[in-house]
Amino acid sequence: MSEGIAMQELTVPLKDRSYPIRIGTDLLSHCGRWTAQITSSRILVISNPTVFKLYGAMVEKSLQEAGLEVHRALIPDGEEYKNMEETLQVVDRALQLHLDRNSVVVALGGGVVGDLAGFAAAIYQRGISFVQIPTTLLAQVDSSVGGKVGVNHPRGKNMIGAFHQPRLVIADLNTLDTLEERDYVSGLGEVVKYGVAWDKDLFNYLEEHTGQIMQRDKACLQHIVYECCRIKSEIVGQDEQEKGLRAVLNLGHTFGHSLEKLGGYRDHRHGEAVAMGMVIAAYLAEELGLIQPQETLRIRCLLQRLDLPVQSPEYDPEAVYSGMLGDKKASHDQLRFVLPTGIGSFTMVDNPDKDLVLKAIKRAI
Ligand SMILES: NC(=O)c1ccc[n+]([C@@H]2O[C@H](COP(=O)([O-])OP(=O)(O)OC[C@H]3O[C@@H](n4cnc5c(N)ncnc54)[C@H](O)[C@@H]3O)[C@@H](O)[C@H]2O)c1
Repeated sequence: MSEGIAMQELTVPLKDRSYPIRIGTDLLSHCGRWTAQITSSRILVISNPTVFKLYGAMVEKSLQEAGLEVHRALIPDGEEYKNMEETLQVVDRALQLHLDRNSVVVALGGGVVGDLAGFAAAIYQRGISFVQIPTTLLAQVDSSVGGKVGVNHPRGKNMIGAFHQPRLVIADLNTLDTLEERDYVSGLGEVVKYGVAWDKDLFNYLEEHTGQIMQRDKACLQHIVYECCRIKSEIVGQDEQEKGLRAVLNLGHTFGHSLEKLGGYRDHRHGEAVAMGMVIAAYLAEELGLIQPQETLRIRCLLQRLDLPVQSPEYDPEAVYSGMLGDKKASHDQLRFVLPTGIGSFTMVDNPDKDLVLKAIKRAI
């Protein structure tokens, strides 16, 4: 507990660029005071109309009460707007407002807003500070932490981007109350990923608390968001720029990104694609003799109990395969997979036999 608020705090350990993650309920009204500790200059709140309607007034009021001059830029809601065009419009707005290098961007929204706003902050005048206020479960457990920011290119997801760490992350669990069911469940896909790849205790906890999780029980969510951020902070602290270890967080993503692309970035939420991708990764691990079938079954069952998809649509397996070659996690048509070797452990496999990969994909269709 801190400052009389029901709050937990973690630090992402990056020497002079370390920053806190604050997790709890009723935190939005404190964002002004905390942001004022970073700057006394202008603030550009970046959000989308859906989120801004719900939480914009509360955030802007808090910032203004802390004596900050507040402006806003809204981008349309949707993954298809996580692009260069919208980023340049935000940059244009920042230029119109004469934001300077002491100004701070506040990203209020899910992963789409956070990725784009962070990227705009990274490129504006060679980089200004930004604060993440993630409002989806996916953003609270994953995208708001670790400094990967960027936008999509027509040729592929997240193809344009930077590493730019936020100065502060504020995860207010109350914001999760208003999430559409499908968006909430999508966030659970990334939560399960941490359990499968890294932390058996977290996986067990998820198995034991599915009922409370589906009811969005606050104590449960506090535990989950804290544990996921703890794991991510530990990994990012060791490998900020994904030279090695951080790739573990891509479990399910190589397959998942291909499925997202085949679905035109509309048909599958990110966390849904990760869930299907994790199942395919487990099947591939089985084909390679790296995981016991009963462990794969446990992963599949937990995902199903959390209402996540475990079966892909009937895409052509060859198309799923070639979609992965275009992914930036594949270099020079080499494919690297993060595969589970049990619950809470993983290994990296380079260029497995194509027939085995296709077999794993077919099993999930
Ligand atoms: N940077 C990273 O490390 C990283 C990691 C994982 C995912 N991502 C990215 O995150 C994005 C997905 O993020 P997402 O799942 O948060 O999607 P999102 O940002 O599109 O949000 C999902 C929907 O929920 C709405 N919403 C947001 N907060 C709300 C709230 N509190 N109440 C009601 N509605 C709300 C949004 O307007 C949107 O319609 C993808 O672009 C993915 O690539 C980035």
